[in-house]
Amino acid sequence: MTLTPTREDKFSFGLWTVGWTGTDPFGTSTRRALDPWEYADKLAELGAWGITFHDNDVWDFDATDEERSDRVAKLKSAADAAGLVIEMVTTNTFSHPVFKDGGFTSNDRSVRRFGLRKVLRNVDLAAELGASTFVMWGGREGAEYDSSKDLFAAHERYREGLDTVAGYIKSQGYDLRIGLEPKPNEPRGDIFLPTIGHALAMISVLEHGDIVGLNPEVGHEQMANLNYTHGLAQALQCGKLFHIDLNGQKGLKYDQDLVFGHGDLLSAFFTVDLLVNGFAASPDAPRYEGPIHFDYKPSRTEGMEGIWDSAKANMETFLMLKKKAQAFRADPEVQALMREASIFELAEPTLGSDEDVATFLAAVEPFDAAAKGEREYHYVQLHQLALRHLIG
Ligand code: GCO
Ligand code: MN
Ligand code: MN
Repeated sequence: MTLTPTREDKFSFGLWTVGWTGTDPFGTSTRRALDPWEYADKLAELGAWGITFHDNDVWDFDATDEERSDRVAKLKSAADAAGLVIEMVTTNTFSHPVFKDGGFTSNDRSVRRFGLRKVLRNVDLAAELGASTFVMWGGREGAEYDSSKDLFAAHERYREGLDTVAGYIKSQGYDLRIGLEPKPNEPRGDIFLPTIGHALAMISVLEHGDIVGLNPEVGHEQMANLNYTHGLAQALQCGKLFHIDLNGQKGLKYDQDLVFGHGDLLSAFFTVDLLVNGFAASPDAPRYEGPIHFDYKPSRTEGMEGIWDSAKANMETFLMLKKKAQAFRADPEVQALMREASIFELAEPTLGSDEDVATFLAAVEPFDAAAKGEREYHYVQLHQLALRHLIG
């Protein structure tokens, strides 16, 4: 297997990732900005398959309709010429001061109506450009102060907004699905839909939840001290893993958006293991088939060369981990240890197919709790084999 990315790898990048010029709360840009189509050309050259963007990555918030369509046309023809797919489009409802209290959940109704129109207009564009996913990251949907919101109404307005967008997609017959992107905090003190689990619960109360799923980001789950791979697994179980944002994060800090694997490497290994190998004991379980999308930031210390080095690093890391994860699963010693650890037994239903609760309760079944309490699982040994494959 080669470590050079090909289109079959389905790697894609947000224009705002390579396009980040290094502005942070403490400092100004450390790099100049290129035009969106210049990033697209270069990403294609590096082996990417797709690109994604927010409306205002391509045109300014204040742009006229003419400027907007001119810049979209330029990007589209650059993508077409480079053979890049525009696989996902998303809306910026966080940068402009108008959104300082949210887009869908602002206390100010006129702001909510403005935000909803901005999103709906962008849905039309996403469909026109052939995107298959429409990501919604509600970065400003939240609060710093619990006194500032009726929290029931806030969640109701969030639900109303999501259902309005999903209902609109259906009414237009667009072949588009919504990917909600959870994040616990930053820029708001507390963001609504903070984790994968919260987002899944919101989807379950939507009228049009069938076309709404998840776009989980590595760093965002880790900022909440959660296990990203477990989150992906539960989203898959619910049939809701529509898209992913891969990057790196080192523990409970601000959103670092490091290169994939530059945070928790072992966690990244098992994420790739799940993405490329699927569930160990459940061959028929849902698999993630979507783009391998990176949402990272080239560190502020890097110049123009560093942008491309870091873009390449994301793809190379994924391919290195893929190779290791495939070798790990194919290793007979690993398979034997997995059997010994009863890993395949977990896929067997706890009740028999012909058993109901009454027969189950009535069944006389010899069981030695003391002996079972002493059984070995050898998980440590199995995990050490993973490490041997990864760094041995
Ligand atoms: C973040 C988020 C954003 C979103 C993007 C898509 O770093 O907080 O990842 O980058 O992914 O705005 O809407
Ligand atoms: Mn992030
Ligand atoms: Mn993201």
